[in-house]
Amino acid sequence: MTNVLLTGAAGFIGSKTAELLINDGVNLVACDNFNDYYDVRLKEHRVQHIKSLADIPFYNIDIENYSDLSKVFENHKFDSIINLAARAGVRYSIENPFVYATTNIIGTLNLLELMHKHNVGQITLASSSSLYAGEETPFNEEMPVNNPISQYAATKKSAEMLCYSYHHLYNFNTAILRYFTVYGPAGRPDMSYFRFIKWIDEGKTVEIFGDGTQSRDFTFVDDIARGTILSTNVKGYEIINLGGGKTPVTINYMIELIEKYLGKNANISYKPFHSADMKETGADISKAEKLLDWQPYTSIEDGLRISVDWYLKNKDLVKNIIL
Ligand SMILES: NC(=O)c1ccc[n+]([C@@H]2O[C@H](COP(=O)([O-])OP(=O)(O)OC[C@H]3O[C@@H](n4cnc5c(N)ncnc54)[C@H](O)[C@@H]3O)[C@@H](O)[C@H]2O)c1
Repeated sequence: MTNVLLTGAAGFIGSKTAELLINDGVNLVACDNFNDYYDVRLKEHRVQHIKSLADIPFYNIDIENYSDLSKVFENHKFDSIINLAARAGVRYSIENPFVYATTNIIGTLNLLELMHKHNVGQITLASSSSLYAGEETPFNEEMPVNNPISQYAATKKSAEMLCYSYHHLYNFNTAILRYFTVYGPAGRPDMSYFRFIKWIDEGKTVEIFGDGTQSRDFTFVDDIARGTILSTNVKGYEIINLGGGKTPVTINYMIELIEKYLGKNANISYKPFHSADMKETGADISKAEKLLDWQPYTSIEDGLRISVDWYLKNKDLVKNIIL
């Protein structure tokens, strides 16, 4: 793997993946549309960090725009596409499903068509554990996942299926990665741990949807980025879980850890559980271990400590971020 197009490179996972690709000496071309789903200053902060590591071509384009994307494929030769650009977040997909369909489905389709046109043979697609709603944990890749409970999950499933069609028609090597609740420094402000750190530190009320016993198989962003890069060597079409793989962590335990690291107590307000949320997620990661020789190294205790440290160092940025 030498020439890579990374989409969504200003994003939480994308920027960490860019950093590791640069460290690996890969010829990286990055793109992002810097949309304002959440505060763009956070995306700019991440890109500043990437640019401090290497002077890579960084396109401010929308993957929904076929003609803009065409120019990127005309200007560079790629061996691999890592498609992390997406509308993420379950709740907002209920309010504005159209942008989820255009970015997550049409954007992916544009990339697949351009791969065919320009003879690119490999794609990695970021998918999601939210497809497993209704299944028993631990979730494994053989589960049928035909009942997405949000538009977000439905568009991710659609993107997976388009990738399968292109793999079947043109033999693209394809890795579909189902990420499980990714967390870490410079994360997404719509994610609970990010909000909880800010709210607890600022003495604001922490809103929890449900009683806090719901649990997630949290996975640290560095582990996810490493697995994403490893997946570019996958042959054929493979769906692979990247998750913490241990006992899922409850929201209440996460809050306890944040309280400890900040040295402050949370003031909690419990709200009704949302019907598009899942009670529990838990990954069977044996396929990732076997195919990618991947496992997560970072415990929730270490990962949250690193996240709180990042927050404390970047308080000036985070205090102005609107949640
Ligand atoms: N963070 C998680 O817990 C998690 C879990 C499962 C799956 N995922 C998936 O991983 C990927 C990365 O997620 P993230 O948490 O880093 O989210 P993110 O929102 O921080 O990153 C996505 C990036 O894509 C960009 N983008 C969105 N639409 C675009 C478009 N049309 N054209 C170009 N760029 C566009 C955004 O500006 C953003 O910078 C997404 O595909 C997401 O669905 C994330």
